[in-house]
Amino acid sequence: MTERGASSTAVLVCQGRATADGRYAVGRFSDPVARELLDAADRELVDQVRAGDVPTRAADRMAYEMVRRTGLTMVPRTIAIDDAIRDHVAGQLVLLGAGLDSRAYRMPELAATTVFEVDHPASQRDKLRRVRALAPVAERLVPVAVDLTSERLAGPLDAAGFDTAAVSTWVWEGVVPYLSAADVRATVAQLAELTAPGSRLVINYQARSLPTSVMRKVMRLVLRLSGQPDPLAHEPWRSLWRPEVLRKLLADNGFSVVSDVDLLTGAEGLALPAENIGSRRNGRVAVAVRN
Ligand SMILES: C[S@@+](CC[C@H](N)C(=O)[O-])C[C@H]1O[C@@H](n2cnc3c(N)ncnc32)[C@H](O)[C@@H]1O
Repeated sequence: MTERGASSTAVLVCQGRATADGRYAVGRFSDPVARELLDAADRELVDQVRAGDVPTRAADRMAYEMVRRTGLTMVPRTIAIDDAIRDHVAGQLVLLGAGLDSRAYRMPELAATTVFEVDHPASQRDKLRRVRALAPVAERLVPVAVDLTSERLAGPLDAAGFDTAAVSTWVWEGVVPYLSAADVRATVAQLAELTAPGSRLVINYQARSLPTSVMRKVMRLVLRLSGQPDPLAHEPWRSLWRPEVLRKLLADNGFSVVSDVDLLTGAEGLALPAENIGSRRNGRVAVAVRN
């Protein structure tokens, strides 16, 4: 993400969810709102993937595959996080790096919850433009613009009405890899100050894997050589975490990890096509409780 640009990876994962809706893990995974959040050009590729209309031009093939495979990773990731939210429905839900997250628009369990969608100011503006007339099902939806690399969360959240004394749920999905280890550590330290005992923190992060990093570089190279837009161009991975290192960071800040599952395990029984296995093996969702 550039200083001024909205997140392209937020659009990519939203496209992935839109491709998977109603096609995979029906009854467990559902995101009908994802499509609504996409611009016409983003939707075109989604429709192509849903129709199985594989591009004949090699140059178009990589963009198609990227969206299709992202969808396969989004299914277990979304299910794991939705389940964690349902297991601990709190009066306040903070989506940290919300991107085009649709939970406030699609989860009836949030009917009595205030959802704070925190994001980088540029991504926040882009989301507000895309939402148009969509009505949230959450009791209240409050956008909060914060750049996690240069601003503190406390002031903007306080101004938005967040109550640090009340139990809350925090979701940090698909953001940790895009922050440096120092920024992740600094953010976790802030969360310790902002969360009341009994609050939950749901973190999606990426474990270190050489094959996955190489595959990502190859995909980007092919996109560049074929003159296709590269959604990862301005959003490099900056930190990958071993589960035990993340667990210690959380413990040092007063959070106890109660579960930490890779997405390959999370996808068991979902009958997903056996592709993009590396991405599922290295993507993880941990749930931690504030002591
Ligand atoms: C891959 S998207 C994930 C979005 C959403 N959580 C999801 O899973 O659909 C990454 C998100 O992290 C946000 N992000 C990246 N760097 C950030 C920063 N420094 N401050 C705030 N948000 C940031 C981006 O704006 C974007 O919304």
